[in-house]
Amino acid sequence: MQIGVLGGTGPAGSGLAVRLASVGFDVVVGSRSKYRAMEVRDKLLGRFPDRGLSIEAGDNHEASSADVVFIATPWDAAGATASECAAELKGKVVVSMANALARVGHEFQPLVPPRGSVAASVQAAVPKSLVAATMHHVPAKELGEIDHPVESDVLVCSDHPSATATTIDIVSRIPDLRAVDAGELSNAAPIEAFAAVLLQVNVKYKTRVAIRFTGLPH
Ligand SMILES: NC(=O)c1ccc[n+]([C@@H]2O[C@H](COP(=O)([O-])OP(=O)(O)OC[C@H]3O[C@@H](n4cnc5c(N)ncnc54)[C@H](OP(=O)(O)O)[C@@H]3O)[C@@H](O)[C@H]2O)c1
Repeated sequence: MQIGVLGGTGPAGSGLAVRLASVGFDVVVGSRSKYRAMEVRDKLLGRFPDRGLSIEAGDNHEASSADVVFIATPWDAAGATASECAAELKGKVVVSMANALARVGHEFQPLVPPRGSVAASVQAAVPKSLVAATMHHVPAKELGEIDHPVESDVLVCSDHPSATATTIDIVSRIPDLRAVDAGELSNAAPIEAFAAVLLQVNVKYKTRVAIRFTGLPH
């Protein structure tokens, strides 16, 4: 399966790209600038030369030609980025990982985007795509350190059961990530907002935390 990452040049997108490539996916790093994507691709391949990673580079349109497409732009660019690529994204699973947050001094504040969540804004921008949301709480740095496991429960939500299933399959390919079906896309609002809590805890305890649920069946 080929996976495109729009905004794949940032810490979250590039971390996701290299982690997905490390478990065997063919990945296309997308960017508004193909050259920026090529630079990031070269950097990732140069960092892990012996891993046989399948990572290509393209502009966001080219990355949208993949089978499944993640959006890893800042929250306020996610809907517009999806909309620009609507033709390529039609009928596909499109996965938002964006959190709408503002940092005000030492405080992380969750914001309320149009339609209540970034993921819902993306779904409205590409109504002919099957939008899911996931990976909001997995720290980018750990994601990109593919010589080390990244451990977390990962909430997945969507209004489309097939998008939920596809997203869970992708997340579950990454060892030590446990995908948890969190229901409809309406739950993207509290999931995205909760990222502010985790970032606040990170600052307080000078660490990077991840979430684990108890009580789930094994
Ligand atoms: N950082 C984390 O630990 C983490 C973890 C989970 C989820 N997230 C979420 O993942 C998303 C990306 O995080 P990040 O820290 O990687 O963000 P970022 O570095 O600020 O942005 C990622 C990429 O988005 C593109 N971009 C920036 N502004 C844009 C615009 N106006 N229109 C279209 N594209 C634009 C840029 O790529 P080009 O200039 O190359 O196009 C940039 O490299 C955020 O929504 C964040 O909430 C982050």
